Amino acid sequence: MRKNIVAGNWKMNNDLAQTQALITNLKTQTKTSNAEVLVAPTFTNLYSAFETLKGTDIEVVAQNMHFAENGAYTGEISAAMLKSIGIKTVILGHSERRAYFNETDELLAKKVDAALASDMTVIFCFGEELADRKSGNHEQVVEDQIKNALFHLKSWDYKNIVLAYEPVWAIGTGETASPEQAQDMHAHIRKTLADHYGYDTANDVSILYGGSVKPNNANEIFGKPDVDGGLIGGASLKAEDFFAIVNAF
Ligand code: G3P
Repeated sequence: MRKNIVAGNWKMNNDLAQTQALITNLKTQTKTSNAEVLVAPTFTNLYSAFETLKGTDIEVVAQNMHFAENGAYTGEISAAMLKSIGIKTVILGHSERRAYFNETDELLAKKVDAALASDMTVIFCFGEELADRKSGNHEQVVEDQIKNALFHLKSWDYKNIVLAYEPVWAIGTGETASPEQAQDMHAHIRKTLADHYGYDTANDVSILYGGSVKPNNANEIFGKPDVDGGLIGGASLKAEDFFAIVNAF
């Protein structure tokens, strides 16, 4: 079901005390938009965050997971383990995991399948590098990432898929994609989905933009017809900035 979503990806930030302090501040914020609000603490803080935000309209989500149910995967965490602490949504395919941990489209397809098999919702990230955009290859790169990792899915699987387009050159750089650049790519993504699954499925998928979204640019970006919200990094670590973005619809 297509909806407005603003998710905060905290990345590798905040220890337990800092997590609790940020959550305390988040709970004082007022939501004036219809956006669904999600936050993604680190693994060590997931359960405490889940418990502290229970009963609020802020959902706690995971930043990653392994595709196996269990076993000899030192340091990894499974879908079942996330579900056991109340987590039902997971971010997969973030460019930092693709870059630093060599997460390929094929591996991500397995992770997506494992998450869906556990009835989890997936926020699936993808996006081009600066060189791809400069060479005009950005649409093909994004198409390939989506097709390679997701096009084995059935149309009904997309009720549990949220897409997040994050141009790598805009992540953490302050170099935000223009609202027009975001809209052009989101429209291309939706057309790519429609060509494969049909208009109804494509039109029902939420497509988020990520990459230096801030309180001063969120409203224009979110105002574009194929932008359904944002995946927020740096600005999600300050409760006031994060809710300024949540309320930017
Ligand atoms: O996952 C969201 C993140 O990659 C965007 O980071 O700091 O550019 O908002 P930032």
